[in-house]
Amino acid sequence: MAEHLLDVNQVTVRFGGLVALDRVDLHVEPGRTTAILGPNGAGKTTLFNAVAGVVHPTSGAISLDGRDITKALPSRRSRDGIARTFQITQPFVGLTVRENVMVSIVSRGVAMREARDEAAEYVSFVGLGPKMDEPARTLSTGQRKRLELARALATKPRLLLLDEVTGGVDRPSIPEILDLIRRLRDERGITIVVVEHNMEVLFGLADDAVFLNRGEVVVTGSMAEVAEHEAVRRIYLGDGDA
Ligand SMILES: Nc1ncnc2c1ncn2[C@@H]1O[C@H](COP(=O)(O)OP(=O)(O)O)[C@@H](O)[C@H]1O
Ligand SMILES: [Mg+2]
Repeated sequence: MAEHLLDVNQVTVRFGGLVALDRVDLHVEPGRTTAILGPNGAGKTTLFNAVAGVVHPTSGAISLDGRDITKALPSRRSRDGIARTFQITQPFVGLTVRENVMVSIVSRGVAMREARDEAAEYVSFVGLGPKMDEPARTLSTGQRKRLELARALATKPRLLLLDEVTGGVDRPSIPEILDLIRRLRDERGITIVVVEHNMEVLFGLADDAVFLNRGEVVVTGSMAEVAEHEAVRRIYLGDGDA
């Protein structure tokens, strides 16, 4: 077995003249939770897009379990155990909560009937049981984030990429979402990479961290080490825009 579940090696992503990621390295050990820190525009979402396979590196390589997946399609990566949630949630608004989750399950080749029951488990796990048969358009921002989580879980991931999962969520609901994320790691052994701006949240969640700025890795290490770095303190503990 490879030592790392995910290896991002010297990945550069260019959009025309813009270098969104500049020779980025990220190494994720199985069972650990890694935080990706950085101001707006740092390249955090682009990094997730590259790992999920919806954005193609200009150079560099990405491996899962030591196997190169740099050229693999997003669907292949999903079957291999990579799932992600979106910063801007994208539910099928006309479908019910359960049906949204069924879409992810059916895409694994599971039959409809079974998918209905399995979907109910994930919907309940994320605390949306009472909303099971409501259209997704009726959900609040926090509820949409939970639905995103349920849809990601429905692909049975080993590696889960969470993009600002508490963003736009009302403060009182945040601890519950964090608790869910901790349970994913502790009860289901899912390896998590999380983009999150709230430092308090991260201290209770992340083992390791990477701080990106303008597409470059500035610091990498344990969550505590990275949080101590002056560039990180300036942005997160000062009056920066994060
Ligand atoms: N599909 C794209 N096409 C062109 N530019 C993009 C695209 N996606 C992201 N960018 C640019 O890449 C940079 C990094 O963006 P992003 O990864 O979304 O940052 P973050 O998630 O850290 O806020 C930004 O300057 C953004 O405008
Ligand atoms: Mg982003």
